[in-house]
Amino acid sequence: MTGDAPALYGLIGHPVEHSRSPLIHRLFAEQTGQHMNYVLIDAVPGRFRAEIEDFRARKGQGLNVTLPFKGDAFRFCARSTQRARQARAVNTIAWKDGEAFGDNTDGAGLVRDLEGNLGLSLRGSRILLIGAGGAARGAVGAIIDADPAELIIANRTPDRAASLAEAFSSGGLVRADTFENLHGGFDLIINATSASLSGQVPAVPAAIISPRSFCYDMMYGKNPTAFLSWASAHGAGGCADGVGMLVEQAAESFLLWRNLRPDTGPVLREVRRRLS
Ligand code: ATR
Repeated sequence: MTGDAPALYGLIGHPVEHSRSPLIHRLFAEQTGQHMNYVLIDAVPGRFRAEIEDFRARKGQGLNVTLPFKGDAFRFCARSTQRARQARAVNTIAWKDGEAFGDNTDGAGLVRDLEGNLGLSLRGSRILLIGAGGAARGAVGAIIDADPAELIIANRTPDRAASLAEAFSSGGLVRADTFENLHGGFDLIINATSASLSGQVPAVPAAIISPRSFCYDMMYGKNPTAFLSWASAHGAGGCADGVGMLVEQAAESFLLWRNLRPDTGPVLREVRRRLS
């Protein structure tokens, strides 16, 4: 251990006080022997840029960005990755040669959780993505890259699903549908809406759930989300919440910042243990 100050990283958002990210990055840093500190920055709307300037004055090297600032972060960064440009949202900033470089690790985190932790193979599968807000937009590019047979996007407000599908129209692979029109036969159903935050379930037909379908909610909590309880009650073949995605997107950020990929397994177990 040197006497140098730890490298400074953090999470900016509003609110941030219940975030698990400091725990996750502390565990990654311990595991990989990195001398770093991870702080929470609660920025009231309108204070995003001012808080970033303050963070940089403290020699901050990288930030995670959460709601409601992912779009602001995208506009703030001088350069960004293709996946951040597709999502029009940045959840990770790294300063390189004094310039803010933006990335979006949410979609990669989701797919790594689905394929790496949960053992699903997205290649050739039929996938339903429910929602068309920021969370859904961040996921579409990574899902397409995993080579499914079909990706259907359905949203309570159908126009938003249509424009999201259009933005990613990839040789007919992606299309939008309405809730009412959905039929079964999905291998994977991903809830990317914020409905679970208020204990609600998107009004999709229960008939779309079958033992063939694995149901995933990007939200998580101490108990199964409303969507996952509903999906289990209607015979889903498997269910998982978004804790794994949270840990995996953090690992992708850590990789960008420190050029090291942490082992997410033990960290995910610890985060789950503390959630329960
Ligand atoms: P986020 O960045 O978390 O995705 P957002 O951009 O506000 O947040 O999008 C929220 C998503 O959750 C939208 O797809 C929203 O549907 P609408 O576009 O119709 O508003 C969806 N959503 C929120 N509550 C919902 C509910 N009770 N039932 C179905 N969809 C819901």
